[in-house]
Amino acid sequence: MYNTILFLILNWIVNASTQQKSPNIVLIIADDLGWDDVSFHGSDQILTPNIDLLAYSGKALGRYYTHCICTPSRAALLTGKYAHRIGMQGYPLTNSEDRGLPTTEKILPQYLKELGYSTHLVGKWHVGQSRTEYLPMQRGFDSHFGHRGGYVDYYEYTLDETWSTGEVTGFGLFRNETPAWDVEGYLTDVYTEEAKSVIKLHDVNKPLFLMLAHNAPHAANYPSIVQAPPEDIRSMKHVELTGRRTYAAMVKKLDESVGEIVEALYKKQMLENTVIVFIADNGGMTSGVAMNFASNWPLRGLKMSPFEGGVRATGLVWSSSFNNSNHLWNGFIHVTDWLPIFLRIAGSEVPLDINGVDLWDDINTKDNSRRDEIYEIDDYTGFAAIISQDFKLVSGQVTLEYSNYQGENLRGMIGDPPSYADSVQKSKTYRILKNIGKPFKKEDVNLRRNIRVKCNQEIDKICYPDKNKFCLYNIKEDPCETNDLSATYPDIAESMLKRLHIEISKTIPRTVPLYRNPESLPRLHNFTWTTFADNFK
Ligand SMILES: *[C@@H]1O[C@H](CO)[C@@H](O)[C@H](O)[C@H]1NC(C)=O
Ligand SMILES: *[C@@H]1O[C@H](CO)[C@@H](O)[C@H](O)[C@H]1NC(C)=O
Repeated sequence: MYNTILFLILNWIVNASTQQKSPNIVLIIADDLGWDDVSFHGSDQILTPNIDLLAYSGKALGRYYTHCICTPSRAALLTGKYAHRIGMQGYPLTNSEDRGLPTTEKILPQYLKELGYSTHLVGKWHVGQSRTEYLPMQRGFDSHFGHRGGYVDYYEYTLDETWSTGEVTGFGLFRNETPAWDVEGYLTDVYTEEAKSVIKLHDVNKPLFLMLAHNAPHAANYPSIVQAPPEDIRSMKHVELTGRRTYAAMVKKLDESVGEIVEALYKKQMLENTVIVFIADNGGMTSGVAMNFASNWPLRGLKMSPFEGGVRATGLVWSSSFNNSNHLWNGFIHVTDWLPIFLRIAGSEVPLDINGVDLWDDINTKDNSRRDEIYEIDDYTGFAAIISQDFKLVSGQVTLEYSNYQGENLRGMIGDPPSYADSVQKSKTYRILKNIGKPFKKEDVNLRRNIRVKCNQEIDKICYPDKNKFCLYNIKEDPCETNDLSATYPDIAESMLKRLHIEISKTIPRTVPLYRNPESLPRLHNFTWTTFADNFK
């Protein structure tokens, strides 16, 4: 009897201590946020104090790479594999397509659930919604509140598509499997409140995995492509151009959301055992399809291009346990690396059949990264790129309109910018970091200077690849990809091209053309974008 009790007590202690070791993981994803749209990258125009403060007391990722489009980027995040290895590369999923992340893939929330985590998705999914088996609840999430497709309107929660028969529209906000008709409000606030309630209701005996995938600052439906509450737009009156001003207000709401989440974790006494990651899914869309007035300036290219503006994105990781006082980490890190990093900090083995690399120790204790290669392959558009150490080779067919320099004209300001010091000191995160003994220090703002991308402005030699031509850049010396070095370093080009072709040979072809399945028509489903292919073969 006595032994049994002792055993139970010991068992309880062992369980309690192992439970404490697994940190909570909060992954916040911004949608189509540009490189120049956060102030820790140097912007004086759009101030993001809450996001910046996480970088100042965590690690700003100076070379965070991702896929250049939403669906591939999210598929890679969830599987730890390059999108082209699982057929998810290229043009993003539409709501009328019967396609999804293959159900044979084991994904991040499934792994974490097995490790005892509560798993919740608030916000965007965008890796398959035509069949029930593609939905988050069937893929390891305990709950999903959000949109399943590329975006929705910030107030109406609808998504429009242009079919050959004309415009179609449908409601796209769901609570688990049912349309969330009852919801009211600005979507960034709605998602923030939902995420806070997940934190508030969380059973602290279990570790939490919360993925908050904001709609912001993705464009909404044409013609109302940028949307924010009027008072927030008014508070951005220093921003010169009208579209950019509303965009700035959308980013302000996103930044405030980050502060609210930090506060909710703090109030629940979870913050110090939580790893927070904030990333953009890809670069901003300054013009063209889904244009949102984002800017990747001075980087070259937009979302949907393999140039740096498409793939080198905003990223940071925060943990109260970081030891190193250097808050800028410039090693290569790719979206596929989060899965092994999260599994590692959750105390698990890292699967072997993935492309991601567990970089937790590198980020925490080293200046460089064990990862020295990154691929961006899209057989749908027709381009392929490889990054290796200092060099990047881009080959094939790129979309020219998305491969140039844009955004500088969006930087205009009327009068003085708002005070950065003020905005930092008034933010929720400032107060909370002080409370947990990680106060903001004035010298932290040096990060803004050190992470800034400096370009030589000679763009006379600018190289555009095509079907028969590739371009080679030294992206460490020339991060703006202005200077083609393929004639200067033919050996490097040849060896990189060889490796690129080996990787291309591992591609699962993205053969499925964009097809609007008439069964998806929202009018057939009480005006919602819901599952429509469950009975298909
Ligand atoms: C920081 O150092 C402490 C003590 O050496 C160690 O226990 C902790 O794991 C380190 N933090 C990380 C994130 O590795
Ligand atoms: C159909 O949509 C309306 C909102 O337009 C909603 O109130 C109603 O509950 C829906 N009906 C069903 C059967 O889901």
